Amino acid sequence: MAVTVKSQREIELMRESCKLLADVFQNMERAIHPGMSTMDINILGDKLIREHGCIPNFLHYNGYPASICVSVNDEVVHGIPRRDHILQEGDIVSLDAGLIYKGYHSDMARTFGVGEISEEAKLLIERTRQSFFDGIKMAKAGNHLYDISNAINASIKPYGYGIVRDLVGHGIGTSLHEDPQIPNFAQRRRGLKLQAGMTLAIEPMINLGRADVEWLDDDWTVVTEDGSISAHYENTILVTDGDPEILTLY
Ligand code: MF3
Ligand code: CO
Repeated sequence: MAVTVKSQREIELMRESCKLLADVFQNMERAIHPGMSTMDINILGDKLIREHGCIPNFLHYNGYPASICVSVNDEVVHGIPRRDHILQEGDIVSLDAGLIYKGYHSDMARTFGVGEISEEAKLLIERTRQSFFDGIKMAKAGNHLYDISNAINASIKPYGYGIVRDLVGHGIGTSLHEDPQIPNFAQRRRGLKLQAGMTLAIEPMINLGRADVEWLDDDWTVVTEDGSISAHYENTILVTDGDPEILTLY
């Protein structure tokens, strides 16, 4: 799948798609509390997406069975919501969701604390978020794709956290996953030249411990191999000639 550059009309549709998704996220965040199940979050998110007249793009994507990915503690991404998985005070929960509005996809993720969480967990979440912002400082027309990857890598390196390598960010538009792939770790090459009108989902996934991950028997849930907790921060952004526009911010 080729890298696409969006027209002004397409950019407007991407903006609207992402704005609606950010609203869904804000409402999911408010609902999080100890004692709820990961399925409760999925049910709420699915309902909010449909109330906006949109379609959850994760549902049935390559057979994924839910609308929202809900990944708790050592689950990195793609956690499958379950009625018997109850959130506890002190957990961290990563929500990843997307929707389709008039044919245009949006995608975002955040990690939230459930009640009071450890200092260590707070720092991991904050530094993962910061690495996204350090990365997108490089996301402007004329720069190269891997300037973003290298900046995320440099942002995380001082802390010794594990940067997940098995999953990457991606282009997004009329498909959830378009080219290019966007690694969150240092690259030797420069990658493609960025152009105004590219829309990208940039999504560092950072482990408190080592970078290695494995897949559970459900074939979806990605967990850290060493059992350490993991954080995720993702926005859909628009490359411009100046500063990038974060389309999914709230
Ligand atoms: N949000 C994921 C991504 O950023 C995609 C999840 S696909 C699903 O690429 F099937 F797991 F939902
Ligand atoms: Co994504």
